[in-house]
Amino acid sequence: MHASKFARRLVFSLCALIALVTWWLLPRDVESDDLLTAAEFPRAAARETRSRKGNETRRRTIVRGNSLTRQANWEAAEQSKLPYPVPAHLQGIDLSQQTADQAAAKSHSCIKCHATVHDPHDSPETIRLGCVDCHGGDANSYKKKTAHVQPRFPGVWSTSGNPVRSYTVMNHEKPEFIRFVNPGDLRVSHLSCGTANCHGRETLEVRKSMMTHGCMLWGAALYNNGAVPDKWSRYGESYSMNGAPQRLQTVPRPTKEETATKGILPFLNPLPRYQISQPGNVLRIFERGGRFVLESGIPERLEEPGRPRFRLSNRGLGTTNRTSPVMIGLQKTRLLDPTLNFLGTNDHAGDYRSSGCTACHMVYANDRSPVHSGPYAKYGNRGTAAASRDNIVRSIDPTIPKHEAGHPIQHKFTRAIPTSQCIVCHVHPGTTVMNSYLGYLW
Ligand code: HEC
Ligand code: HEC
Ligand code: HEC
Ligand code: HEC
Repeated sequence: MHASKFARRLVFSLCALIALVTWWLLPRDVESDDLLTAAEFPRAAARETRSRKGNETRRRTIVRGNSLTRQANWEAAEQSKLPYPVPAHLQGIDLSQQTADQAAAKSHSCIKCHATVHDPHDSPETIRLGCVDCHGGDANSYKKKTAHVQPRFPGVWSTSGNPVRSYTVMNHEKPEFIRFVNPGDLRVSHLSCGTANCHGRETLEVRKSMMTHGCMLWGAALYNNGAVPDKWSRYGESYSMNGAPQRLQTVPRPTKEETATKGILPFLNPLPRYQISQPGNVLRIFERGGRFVLESGIPERLEEPGRPRFRLSNRGLGTTNRTSPVMIGLQKTRLLDPTLNFLGTNDHAGDYRSSGCTACHMVYANDRSPVHSGPYAKYGNRGTAAASRDNIVRSIDPTIPKHEAGHPIQHKFTRAIPTSQCIVCHVHPGTTVMNSYLGYLW
């Protein structure tokens, strides 16, 4: 008797608890307040402090509502078929009109931790930007976890330094997170650098730059080795906001005359998958060596994966499953280190850099020679952030580890780009132009 009464009470309170928890977890209706911009937030928050009860819950709901809308917008943008979609909450913004107060609200919680950090532009009189204008994230949240945008692959981004040999991981990471760690990355620069009345033109042009697509080396390697019939380059690297390889196209299409005399290319395609390529028959050199002719479908145990050391087909093009060694080479080799699309390897002196606009405009410590690095030589070659202030570095971010590789010397843009910053890429085969500028031979 007693027991069943107890059980009924238990069931009742459990139900009540479940109902309460479900209500709490249900997404709140997005009320108009929830769509407050960060700029309007401080005033709304001040109004709320006046009412004592429910204040904290209310604030949390607003922040939660905001981040739910944001997340939904990013997800919708990721589904978009456009190469560079703009999430709904970022559409139509013109940051050049922003007031100092609006900018301050967009840095509100960030600078509680990142004390002394400012807009990396050195021009407070022309433009007023808050942290989230470039990085995204939540400037109303005081916890690192919620203020920061979280990555899809937390293992890769275990610290704030650029990861070592991240290679193509950025093509698989969330665009929202890429914008958070590097607003200058070309996948997302249309949302930061390239917004209305800022650097739209540079953003478009850098995406078509040969430092981004690297068509010259690919074109030369493929033509010289007989893999393609044309001298003009037809392959180049380009990625959409979601990291999908895409074709670059000149509009309107250039005439044959323009291609022949001015080098204007009609298009650049992504490299085809190596399996569907076939060897050019001028590659006699690859026919030396090898212990026996491979049978298709019977792997040679001692052969390194993906490197056809053995002779090409003895039966001609497209037979015995042979692929083009040049195509495989281009797919698998970082001849160009790679391009502006990705980060530097971040594993040794001379290879510390970020991607996109940041690759040039934010200086990393790579070279101790003043001949190559100018005034930046004193920051060493270990890719670390400066630890103290001096005539170049005006502020130090207390959150950034100072002995960890993969940080810019300081949070600041420059137009005075030292040669060492270019050499990070231009030391690699295919781009060694700059080495001769420094007096080196390749
Ligand atoms: C104009 C755009 C812009 C604004 C505004 C901006 N940042 Fe940045 N921030 C960048 C870029 C670009 C990088 C470089 C990323 C890289 O090196 O990969 C960066 C890097 C950082 C880093 C990493 C530094 C390191 O050593 O690894 C932190 C922390 C940071 N920003 C915080 C802030 C804070 C806080 C604010 C607001 C006060 C802010 N940023 C405003 C563009 C911006
Ligand atoms: C509670 C403190 C805190 C707040 C609030 C905070 N940060 Fe950070 N942030 C850190 C710390 C600590 C690091 C360094 C983490 C590390 O080295 O692992 C960091 C690192 C970063 C980095 C480097 C990249 C990365 O993934 O670590 C960026 C960019 C950044 N913060 C931007 C912001 C922005 C923008 C805001 C505001 C929207 C913000 N932070 C708010 C503490 C904070
Ligand atoms: C992210 C790597 C990267 C950085 C950083 C970089 N470049 Fe490049 N650069 C390239 C690539 C890749 C090419 C094209 C090579 C190709 O298509 O074969 C290129 C091509 C060039 C060319 C054309 C070369 C030719 O033979 O026509 C010049 C000039 C050049 N870069 C100058 C610079 C300067 C100056 C800087 C520094 C301000 C710089 N680069 C920084 C990767 C880079
Ligand atoms: C390969 C290196 C490189 C890359 C990548 C790069 N820039 Fe530049 N940028 C330069 C150099 C070099 C200058 C000229 C500096 C000078 O002489 O004043 C420059 C100048 C500029 C200027 C002109 C400043 C002025 O005073 O007129 C702007 C704006 C600019 N870059 C924005 C961008 C943006 C946005 C991106 C990314 C979409 C980008 N840059 C990518 C090297 C680069």
